[in-house]
Amino acid sequence: MNNTYSEEEIERLPFMDKNLDLEKRVEDLLGRLTIEEKFKLSSGRFMWQTKPIKRLGVKPFIMYDGPHGVRPDTMREIKSTYFPSAICRAATWNPKLSYDFGKAVAEEVREVGAHMLLAPGINIHRTPMNGRTFEYQTEDPYLNKVLAVATVKGIQSQRIAACVKHFICNNQETNRLTVSSEVSERALQEMYLPAFKATVLEADAWSFMTCYNKVNGIYGSENINLLRERLMGEWGFRGFTVSDWNATAFTNTAGCVKAGLSLEMPTAKKYNKSKMIKAFREGQFGVDNLNDNIRRLIRVMLLVGLYDDEKAIPKGSRNTPEHQAIARKIAEEGIVLLKNENASLPLNINKIKKIAVLGPNKNYKLVGDDFLSGGGSSVNFPPYEISPLEGLKEKCLNRVEVTNVPSEADATIIFAGLNHDSGKDAEGEDKNSFELPSEQIELIQKTSKECSNTIIVLINGSPIAMNSWIDSVSSVVEAWYGGMEAGKAIASVIFGDTNPSGKLTITFPKRLSDSPAHVSKRTFPGDDKVYYDEGIFVGYRHFDARDIAPLFPFGFGLSYTTFSYENLMIDKNKIRSDDEIKVSVDVTNSGSVEGKEIVQLYVQDVESSVERPIKELKRFEKVFLHPNETKTVLFELKKEDLSFYNETVNSWIVENGTFKILVGSSSRDIQLQGEIEYIG
Ligand code: BGC
Repeated sequence: MNNTYSEEEIERLPFMDKNLDLEKRVEDLLGRLTIEEKFKLSSGRFMWQTKPIKRLGVKPFIMYDGPHGVRPDTMREIKSTYFPSAICRAATWNPKLSYDFGKAVAEEVREVGAHMLLAPGINIHRTPMNGRTFEYQTEDPYLNKVLAVATVKGIQSQRIAACVKHFICNNQETNRLTVSSEVSERALQEMYLPAFKATVLEADAWSFMTCYNKVNGIYGSENINLLRERLMGEWGFRGFTVSDWNATAFTNTAGCVKAGLSLEMPTAKKYNKSKMIKAFREGQFGVDNLNDNIRRLIRVMLLVGLYDDEKAIPKGSRNTPEHQAIARKIAEEGIVLLKNENASLPLNINKIKKIAVLGPNKNYKLVGDDFLSGGGSSVNFPPYEISPLEGLKEKCLNRVEVTNVPSEADATIIFAGLNHDSGKDAEGEDKNSFELPSEQIELIQKTSKECSNTIIVLINGSPIAMNSWIDSVSSVVEAWYGGMEAGKAIASVIFGDTNPSGKLTITFPKRLSDSPAHVSKRTFPGDDKVYYDEGIFVGYRHFDARDIAPLFPFGFGLSYTTFSYENLMIDKNKIRSDDEIKVSVDVTNSGSVEGKEIVQLYVQDVESSVERPIKELKRFEKVFLHPNETKTVLFELKKEDLSFYNETVNSWIVENGTFKILVGSSSRDIQLQGEIEYIG
């Protein structure tokens, strides 16, 4: 049992044979491990890897952050492509770009010799004050799911494991290590679980990271209900779970083993040898639980090709022009044009003589002088970064003069927003204000008096208030944190080389108190507990149901062209349980430049025995159209798209009755509607 094998012997062990069935390889290696070796494999070393077991040739399994580019070291020596923040990527509403990002970042993970990327982060945007809003995708479970699935598929196409995080209800940073998210079963089912579940069912995610917080009183890392019962039992997850870094701090060894936590990171605390031995000897957990946890880890080691010949696994690459082009494309497509009075944008490079460029974020770069800049674990270090000002200057070269005097300029661009300092868009703390910093507000107010064409470009990663200044400016562009090519992407939108096509994936409220989590201290930030009293009424579901006008609604974004919607057709008006419903709509580019429209389909349950949202996103499609071109967009709906989670019978049900099919260009701009009747 305890043999030490020579290198040649290891080569001949069955688990090393890539032609053997995966599960046979897994069982072979599992069967050779002693119980102490299984304990050893249960926790990490050196921050980012598992421990090797030399006698069997078990190599370290290496994992790195993060969601916007791989970061193999914190010393900034190894550079990698810095992709736009997840909220920007989501704002493209383009699953293909999520896939392309996943594939590209995985190639970089492979190139640095690692096996797993600690991404994507897909916690729902419950409040715009979450410090990690920029790292997550959206407030909507359907959009979240489509984009998460595409990202995981992209990453794993390279035989690199995705690590879907943070499972689950880690929706704020305040007290994240101790707070209990008190959430109803219906809200879990309808809002918080769907994207996580879909990454298992539709993308076969190979790893999940547990959350820091408790969910209904139990920490994520020892939550039998979430891990063993739902993730592994109901959803059939075949991968392994890893704790968030030090998320096991207040847990119990046997509790984690029994719940199905395979790997404790970054080092052994609850899973250290003496605690494991003691708990095991006392019978606090059984060998079957331990075996299952280790089996899962080994399975993923084999899936990523840890023991396969290098030639047999996809080749890595890093900092390539292709990856940089993907970063730029995401930045361009993720930009959301929020306001454009008198079509002041795009600027015409042939007509405009002078622009003034102001604002603290004109020189924005992710990597500042402060070692800890970057917003936390999602930071990485790119080989170069193009700031907004650099991007504009390059575009204007020899054609338009760039100054900083608004009164002399034809147009003034103010780069406002936040950054990744603590208390802004950063991990570890929630935002300390919903407003822009006061000096920026003053700058905007002053400048708009001096220059009648003042354009605000926001570099930030979460909704902010605009009431005190938005009426005085002509345009507002939400450019997010756009990655290493951000400056070029912004210039390309400002001068109309790119027609903006991003739309908001999160509601921008007028004031924070309009937001569903900001009713009282109990609902945010809570204390020992934070109560999700709004239930399923998160984001636009809340604004719709309570009839509150947002500053900018979910799904909103302007274009330099216009689109018209006609001919909504639904192939049947009475629906039975097994039917598929085909919906089609003609969308025309009715303006004069080419552009992309995100066509959104929402469903409304007209009569229901429980309170349901006024509308819920069920399908969307991004279509490219030349001027005057019309395309027919087709959607297929199923019974599941009409259902809700019924807490009385503990399952998803559809009630007979009328449903509206709403098609439009944002959640508050429904262009066409039809009706169907569900007759079971
Ligand atoms: C974060 C994770 C991250 C991990 C490793 C934690 O603090 O919550 O998202 O992957 O650290 O850096």
